[in-house]
Amino acid sequence: MAGRIPQSFIDDLLARVDIVDVVDARVPLKKQGSNHVACCPFHEEKTPSFTVSPTKQFYYCFGCGAGGSALGFVMEYDRVEFVEAVETLASELGIEVPRSGGGRAGEDEGLERLYAALAAADRFYQGQLRQANEAIEYLRQRGISGATAKRFGLGYAPPGWSHLIDEANAGSLDDLLRAGLVNRNDANRTYDRFRGRVMYPIRDRRGRTIAFGGRVLDDGTPKYLNSPETPVFHKGRELYGLYEARRARRDPERLVVVEGYMDVIVLAEHGIDYAVATLGTSTGQAHAERLFSVTREIVFCFDGDEAGRQAAWRAMTHTLPVLTDGREARFLFLPEGEDPDSMVRAEGRAAFEDRLAQAKPLADFLIERLRAGIDTTSVGGRAQLASEAAPLLKTMPAGVYHDLLIDRLAAQVGLSPERLRADMTGDAGSKRAPERSEGPRRRAASGIRMTPMRTAIGLLIQNPRLAERLPDDHPALAADQPGSRLLADLRERIRATPDVTTARLIEAYRDTSEQKHLERLASWPFATDAESDRDQALAREFDDTLERLGEQVRRARRGALLEAARERTLSADEKRELQTLMSAR
Ligand code: UTP
Ligand code: MN
Repeated sequence: MAGRIPQSFIDDLLARVDIVDVVDARVPLKKQGSNHVACCPFHEEKTPSFTVSPTKQFYYCFGCGAGGSALGFVMEYDRVEFVEAVETLASELGIEVPRSGGGRAGEDEGLERLYAALAAADRFYQGQLRQANEAIEYLRQRGISGATAKRFGLGYAPPGWSHLIDEANAGSLDDLLRAGLVNRNDANRTYDRFRGRVMYPIRDRRGRTIAFGGRVLDDGTPKYLNSPETPVFHKGRELYGLYEARRARRDPERLVVVEGYMDVIVLAEHGIDYAVATLGTSTGQAHAERLFSVTREIVFCFDGDEAGRQAAWRAMTHTLPVLTDGREARFLFLPEGEDPDSMVRAEGRAAFEDRLAQAKPLADFLIERLRAGIDTTSVGGRAQLASEAAPLLKTMPAGVYHDLLIDRLAAQVGLSPERLRADMTGDAGSKRAPERSEGPRRRAASGIRMTPMRTAIGLLIQNPRLAERLPDDHPALAADQPGSRLLADLRERIRATPDVTTARLIEAYRDTSEQKHLERLASWPFATDAESDRDQALAREFDDTLERLGEQVRRARRGALLEAARERTLSADEKRELQTLMSAR
């Protein structure tokens, strides 16, 4: 298992595999024109909008925006990590996955040892629970059944200082220290971190135990002790209960975010098996991102007091940046003094689910909270509201949610949405005016704007052969514009591998910041796809796009030179360049 899979093997694998076979074995496909279609396995639908393209070796869904290579499909559909997906495809083709040795392998082996230590500790704690009457009684009193305890792998760390070291067979002392299971004190003595506590294993996406929370049985302190950050545990990213929730439901309609371990477990006990908890931190953007990769709706559940409202506000600010179209976040505030655990025990599942269904939409929460304490009948108050909203809205992706918030705020402050938008982006002036005059831009379901650069990249990644139409000296390749480097890089890759497919190109960017972006562009529904003389239409659209892109780059360069000319004397080269740029228009 140790060792890294060479990129060349992955590329080779994708060149050999046929995505149509891979998908068809899991979701039966129907041929339709040059594509294959089915009802999307990643969202509910009655008419098929899930499409597999044999030429691009790429799948995409017009309904929910899912898209990717055969590898990406296996990861999503089989719910496995990258390495496992590679192994699955390789074994379907009957080929062996090579592993490179060397530096990285050593590191991986180190991680394997940590996972092994954690797994052994997990087994040890679970075994101990069976013999610990006091702990069993505690869980019983809290209304937790044996089945639920098992589902969450609850365990017990007995009192005493060296059980793990002496009995658990969990690897070397060094492994235990690195896994955060054993501490070392100032006198250089080592001892078990968790003693006399009910143990809650924290599992990663694949179900591997990566850390623990431990709770005292009485009212000792600290009530909860958690694992420290380790190479396999970063609490800013992990969510307690997410693995268990995904095991219970393939595609949860919504996920509920609560504050405590016990809340997750007791909710599950009552059939609400889609709750997760952050680990003693507030919900960050990485959490929100992860949650939305599993579901379309998050309900944050907080105490009804001021502390709860503040925590909700923080969660909201971290959710805004990932609130693309189709996603929704809502807020449920419980009566003071209650938590989800006490609430569901008191009222039962149906009543709690009613509360969830009626939770406050993010837009309502945001506006209410912004308005609090501001007199919106006065001009000054309305200006204050707009200026407090601006930095928040700026973090949001473009899309209907963003537009909706602008509309609602505009109504509050008595301005037109256009006016408010201009005020907030601060571009009522000249800077962005020329860009605007290009006319309406198309918008995807995912809410991105199609600039000429994105169109060029999208067309290119979907139709790699177009690279031959992009000349070496196209100004966009060398410009310092967003996307320039990517465009140049893509072109290089295509030139190096002439019959490369969309899917293989995408895979070359896996785990880079460009991956998401490219996946979206790879499934962008260009109108040319539907035209009868497709190749010709594509060539024309690409040429047009390059033309517009070139114009944009030249205009930007001209602007920069004119700007510079105001502050200093231009060099001879710069003057010549500016002259050419001025005469070209
Ligand atoms: P709570 O005290 O609300 O947790 O703290 P809970 O799960 O409801 O606890 P009990 O068992 O019903 O009394 C919320 C979360 O804050 C973290 C834990 O992650 C806990 O689940 N916490 C709390 C700690 O890390 N340490 C503490 O001492 C207390
Ligand atoms: Mn509680």
